[in-house]
Amino acid sequence: MLAAAPSAAVLGIDALDILVEVHVANGLPQWTLVGLAATAVKESRDRVHAALVNSGFTVPAKRITVSLTPGDTPKQGTSFDLPIALALLAASGQLPPEVLRETCAVGELGLDGQVRAVRGVLAVARHVAATSGALLIVPPDNRNEAQRVPNARVVAARSLAELVDMLRDGRPAALPTRPTQQLNPTGQDVPDLGDVVGQDLAVRAVEVAAAGAHNLLLVGPPGAGKTMLARRLPGILPPLDEHEALEVLSIHSVAGLLAPEQAQHQSLSRPFRAPHHSISTAGLVGGGGWPRPGEVSLAHHGVLFLDELSLFPRHTLEALRQPLEDGQVVVARAARAVRFPSRFSLVAASNPCPCGYAGSPDRACRCTPAELERHRARLSGPLADRIDLHVHVQRVSPEALAQQTPRERSQDIRARVIAARAIQQTRYAHLQSPHGAPLTNATAPARVIAPGARLLPDARALLLRAADRLALSARAYHRVLRVARTMADLDAEDAVQAMHVAEALRFRPVDSEQVAAAGESSVAPAADVVAPDPVLSPRGS
Ligand SMILES: Nc1ncnc2c1ncn2[C@@H]1O[C@H](COP(=O)(O)OP(=O)(O)OP(=O)(O)O)[C@@H](O)[C@H]1O
Ligand SMILES: [Mg+2]
Repeated sequence: MLAAAPSAAVLGIDALDILVEVHVANGLPQWTLVGLAATAVKESRDRVHAALVNSGFTVPAKRITVSLTPGDTPKQGTSFDLPIALALLAASGQLPPEVLRETCAVGELGLDGQVRAVRGVLAVARHVAATSGALLIVPPDNRNEAQRVPNARVVAARSLAELVDMLRDGRPAALPTRPTQQLNPTGQDVPDLGDVVGQDLAVRAVEVAAAGAHNLLLVGPPGAGKTMLARRLPGILPPLDEHEALEVLSIHSVAGLLAPEQAQHQSLSRPFRAPHHSISTAGLVGGGGWPRPGEVSLAHHGVLFLDELSLFPRHTLEALRQPLEDGQVVVARAARAVRFPSRFSLVAASNPCPCGYAGSPDRACRCTPAELERHRARLSGPLADRIDLHVHVQRVSPEALAQQTPRERSQDIRARVIAARAIQQTRYAHLQSPHGAPLTNATAPARVIAPGARLLPDARALLLRAADRLALSARAYHRVLRVARTMADLDAEDAVQAMHVAEALRFRPVDSEQVAAAGESSVAPAADVVAPDPVLSPRGS
């Protein structure tokens, strides 16, 4: 007899239909599996066999052929156990075959017949809800994620025996869906920028980074608060919308990192990922035999924080170029390309030199010129060009820390950020974004930046003067313009003013002479090059 059970395979963060067919024929007892299955799938035979017997069913002593179609799609993992068992029960007359129609089952079977969690159920639920609308049968530990998908019809089965009882009694009632209503309404579960003492320039940079989706580099001595500042960026980013939230959860589900309780939470903060510098390239950008999302994708719609940037191997940082540029990672596989989205804000932190004290007023730097030069080469490596905001942070004095002067809370800063993002969305609405997410001042193409910036005459004059004196490259020029535009958006100003340009110039990259001179000077270098208030000091200074 022949019977079939629909299922699905996960590819990247998408899913596709798989039909599990089982044929039971007379002949010597034998079990054949066809359809490009990986080892874990081949091992399903032993699990399914034991699960069926231990659940009180019989496994016919006949020739059993299991086919997973379409045959040219690689199948991975253990999620086909459940549909194979169901199709086998139907093909051997232990379950009416028609109850499997318009269902989709995924789940691993324990030898005792328990249904165990698998990866990527959220992707399957999104796929099924968007296509067939079939009844989705999932392991109990995956039900929360499946229930987040609007219009998904989900049932959870603890064991094979319980599932068969439910199906025999007629169609089990689907669980209610619980789409996320309000996501991270106030950023309540992330640390607050209000806790930071002093560091006005760096806090401002964090705000501007959030408002324009600019990447940010923080350079400063140990204990200056770089890590503290970076961890507070997610709290001022705009809330995730429903679509973004499902993407974030899908990626974590495919990576096997979604705890059942996490999937249930009504509020969801933007991801914050801080991989150690010893991470492999595959761990960072994704890959492997069964392609898994890397840190850049786990940080999708959130923040990727590279602490101690100079300690990351150069080839690892090189691998970040594609995800930074395209907002996605494409892992080439034999049969097809697997795509993982990776739109994140990059925040990097570094000491100014190997000993950590170059340019610090507290202590003399002990590094040799050669060490300083090597360090500088690392910081100005492949990523520096993609970072709009460069900030020098100095340590806050113990007296200042003890005083605890209150500063603005993240919630209030966030309100400005949300308003500034809305302005950008309108400005760039006519442009097609290559990655679906709305364009921002950081991601809009260079050709629209200058016309869109709307510089007032004195702002233009200042920018041209700075470009001339600092010998800015075209890219550096645009970088200043992008940042100034974001500052104007935060002020809800239609035109960029001279003060925005002047402030933007303070966040320029630190170049070689500045690092070399850092031993003598203790002030944020960019501030020296151009007078902080050029309106008061026109024509050179
Ligand atoms: N401006 C500040 N306001 C309040 N607390 C601060 C500030 N700067 C530092 N701290 C305190 O010092 C601790 C150390 O700061 P943090 O770890 O962020 O420094 P860092 O710059 O990342 O240093 P390292 O280079 O060693 O990684 C913080 O956890 C925080 O408690
Ligand atoms: Mg740190």
